Amino acid sequence: MGDTQAPEHDGASLAGQWWRSAAIYQIYPRSFADGNGDGVGDLAGVRAHLSYLSELGIDAVWFNPWYASPMADAGYDVADYRAIDPLFGTLGEAEAFIREAHEVGIRTIVDIVPNHCSDEHPWFKEALLAGPDAAVRDLFWFRSGRGEHGELPPNNWSSIFGGPAWTRTKNPDGTDGEWYLHLFAPGQPDLNWENPKVREEFEDVLRFWFDRGADGVRIDSAALCLKDPTLADFDPADPPSPHPFEDRDEVHDVYVSWRRIADSYPEPRALIGEVWLPEEPERFALYLRPNELHTAFNFDFLGCPWDAAAMRKVIDDGIALHAPVGAPPTWVLSNHDVIRTVTRYGREDTRFTLDYRQFDAPSDLALGTRRARAAVMLLLALPGSAYMYEGEELGLYEVMDIPAEMRQDPMFFQTNGVNLGRDGCRIPLPWSGEARPFGFSPDGAAGAPWLPQPADWADFTVERQQADPSSMLWLYRDALRARRSEPGLGDGSMTWLPTGPDVLAFARDGDFVCMVNLSGEPVDLPAGATVLLASGPLDGDRLGTDTAVWLRRSAGSR
Ligand code: GLC
Repeated sequence: MGDTQAPEHDGASLAGQWWRSAAIYQIYPRSFADGNGDGVGDLAGVRAHLSYLSELGIDAVWFNPWYASPMADAGYDVADYRAIDPLFGTLGEAEAFIREAHEVGIRTIVDIVPNHCSDEHPWFKEALLAGPDAAVRDLFWFRSGRGEHGELPPNNWSSIFGGPAWTRTKNPDGTDGEWYLHLFAPGQPDLNWENPKVREEFEDVLRFWFDRGADGVRIDSAALCLKDPTLADFDPADPPSPHPFEDRDEVHDVYVSWRRIADSYPEPRALIGEVWLPEEPERFALYLRPNELHTAFNFDFLGCPWDAAAMRKVIDDGIALHAPVGAPPTWVLSNHDVIRTVTRYGREDTRFTLDYRQFDAPSDLALGTRRARAAVMLLLALPGSAYMYEGEELGLYEVMDIPAEMRQDPMFFQTNGVNLGRDGCRIPLPWSGEARPFGFSPDGAAGAPWLPQPADWADFTVERQQADPSSMLWLYRDALRARRSEPGLGDGSMTWLPTGPDVLAFARDGDFVCMVNLSGEPVDLPAGATVLLASGPLDGDRLGTDTAVWLRRSAGSR
């Protein structure tokens, strides 16, 4: 039995620190709900479903980028950080959403993309027009090519989406010009964070959204912003330390400065980092020092196989990692970049990493669904905050068979289809009815959904699940409601209880217990405990395989 203790905190200083316990729902605006009938989700659609969000029982929503963008990477290529893309609506609608959501107790987190902007951003357009020696080029990473005529990229860096990380430009007179760096798609030129103008601009963008009521920001690719200014070649299989563009020490100055801005608001705003550093947990924790980010996604949990020992380790390590810096752990099962949970858990190999997506692995969706039900109860019982990606509450599966001509993700195109990319987890949500678009768009909409929905999603609609108390949707609602009313859940400590090796059982403050059976056999529930919620049917006093339960312990059983 182990006691995993969060550090002591002075209650008063934690008041208002909602991010320590929040259950946060991720809205991928293109795919949530289409209000204007063009086949793409928008703010009108989200506002029309505010009661759905409120009934779900979440504390906050995180919006993927909604800014003006040519959509080379579904909005992660931002042309104007202060404008809403007309595809999604207007700034007035975003402000109205933030206000209306506050009225029903839901906070809003917006996505800030600092590593790169769009090639349609005014700075980049100006830099292209201004030609090689112009000062404005210093806002990006423009360099001459190698080779006799500059025909080779300036170095050997690869794009995270595949292919080279450099694209050659044309000079204003039409001749071949310099190259620019893009760690992602060519439409996403990397910004030069050594340049003070870049820093000032983003600090102003933060204030812009905080002034409009945003309660926090999710920081995209937070560890990538700073680069080795020598831009030296390196061997990706054996990168030097420090890495030329990942997790460089200088990046922390950026977030120390952002923290001052976040803390300057009467109700401090939360900074949430997307920091993928699976090999370097101690470096990950540096981002969460008291004067930097408030939380960061724990991707180890998201990639962990369905295995009790592995889960226990990820949970213990996650808590231990956060404790010295006093930050709350943040648990996440899924997002818009990864394979849907029911598909992953239905596979023989249930791991996920950015390099290990297994597009061709078969999945037993009934098994995956059973495990996903248990997993969300685990997620919501752990100490700290929890993130849920839209559609997980409907038990949607990863759609593998999207025709190539309908795919949108640059990852698919930049790898020539070797990597199917992320479209399969971004399919528009099914709301109602028996036929596509399943209420995603209004009746008689002109546009088909931007990615095709499978015909059998008639079985997954909100309408259908609402009418079925055993649905995934009701499990989410019941669990979220219980989470709010259980004083022991959210931030705090947990204590492992003695069990067999393939069972996870832990107590939270008070008399609350979460138990998950990952073994192949039913196991006994603790004597005298009262069942609060179960992810599947119980067999008398026994908990079946791949099932989770929340219990109230009797005084005598402690
Ligand atoms: C992050 C986002 C991902 C995007 C990338 C580039 O990883 O989550 O969707 O493609 O950054 O902005």
